[in-house]
Amino acid sequence: MTSELTTGLELRREWQVGPSHLYNPTDIAGREVLSSPSMIMEMETTCALLAKSSLPGTQTTVGFHVDVKHIAPAKAGATITTFARLDTIDGRKLTFHVEAKEGDRVVGTGRHRRAIVNIDELR
Ligand SMILES: CC(C)(COP(=O)(O)OP(=O)(O)OC[C@H]1O[C@@H](n2cnc3c(N)ncnc32)[C@H](O)[C@@H]1OP(=O)(O)O)[C@@H](O)C(=O)NCCC(=O)NCCS
Repeated sequence: MTSELTTGLELRREWQVGPSHLYNPTDIAGREVLSSPSMIMEMETTCALLAKSSLPGTQTTVGFHVDVKHIAPAKAGATITTFARLDTIDGRKLTFHVEAKEGDRVVGTGRHRRAIVNIDELR
């Protein structure tokens, strides 16, 4: 069952920094860190799941705008919590506040926008 899509809705997801999330800026073995694209992908996923839980099965969302700062590194194996809050609804365009944290430490923060689309329109 879906609830109505309204501003103020929030979702938190916890996940671990795994091999596919890593980038090594030094090429020195063992110094791999969470990559920015991987952090943003997890933020986007959190927003997408939040929106999907309140949309009919015929609709989904696609990301079209990302404005995110990667503030602090996170190591392989770290437990990260991504947070999404739906701040504005403008027609079919949704704006989310997003954060990634390791415990109380902010790893990334910013804004992400998604558009509601009919699944039939996606090819
Ligand atoms: C999201 C989408 C369906 C919106 O389509 P639309 O309603 O025709 O889009 P709009 O014309 O409102 O444009 C979307 C935004 O891009 C901007 N834009 C459009 N063309 C642009 C261009 N050439 N250069 C810069 N910005 C552009 C628009 O100004 C708008 O921004 P705003 O909302 O801040 O004003 C479409 O942009 C899209 O398919 N994007 C790709 C989504 C995707 O594949 N995501 C990955 C998978 S989830």
